[in-house]
Amino acid sequence: MKSAVILISGRGSNMRSIVEARTGLDVRAVLSSRPDAPGLAWAAAQGIPTVALDHRSFAAREAFDARLAEAIEPFAPDLLLLAGFMRILTDGFIRRHEGRMVNIHPSLLPAFPGLHTHRRALAAGAKVHGATVHLVTPELDSGPIVIQGVVPVIPGDDEAALAARVLEVEHRIYPQAVRWFLEDRIEVGEGDVVRVRGAGVSSDTLVSPRDPR
Ligand code: GAR
Repeated sequence: MKSAVILISGRGSNMRSIVEARTGLDVRAVLSSRPDAPGLAWAAAQGIPTVALDHRSFAAREAFDARLAEAIEPFAPDLLLLAGFMRILTDGFIRRHEGRMVNIHPSLLPAFPGLHTHRRALAAGAKVHGATVHLVTPELDSGPIVIQGVVPVIPGDDEAALAARVLEVEHRIYPQAVRWFLEDRIEVGEGDVVRVRGAGVSSDTLVSPRDPR
């Protein structure tokens, strides 16, 4: 059995989708960078140990990351799952956990790294949008891609409608990526390209069944 610590900053719906998928993952703790993150209360109600670190009480990024690493260590997780964790981590922290730290980002990377991805996809006139689960490397939102979920951009969409459609696919792809990790099927090959052992040609891309026409 593999274990994980999940890092959140807010609502925690991706954390919830991972826990509720009952993949066999041993979620040892949920850590939040905000003490008021609603996801913390949900995790605690499930009996999962929670830790809140208020990022505002740390003067420097390095100090926060050092405390974060300290908080994670006793749980000795195989995986660190970032699920709406809205902090840029230092290179030192990332290197320390490289290869076992995973993130979900609300766009089809490498398009739209950073913030306000749905607004930017709409402004760019993108016809498809989605979410990406990737390994975390020091360069922001650009590590090896594990799985992507694609949704149509439908004429008349506003930011909220598009975000909701993407979130639905997020809740499918993150548990799927976790299953592959648990089955030891994730392989990072040449050029940092992830291959999922035993997966069919397109089984690592989930396209929303909604039809835009
Ligand atoms: C999700 O849409 C996730 O992809 C995004 O924050 C949201 C968190 O929602 N993450 C990022 O933007 C990271 N750069 P959740 O707290 O309900 O899972």
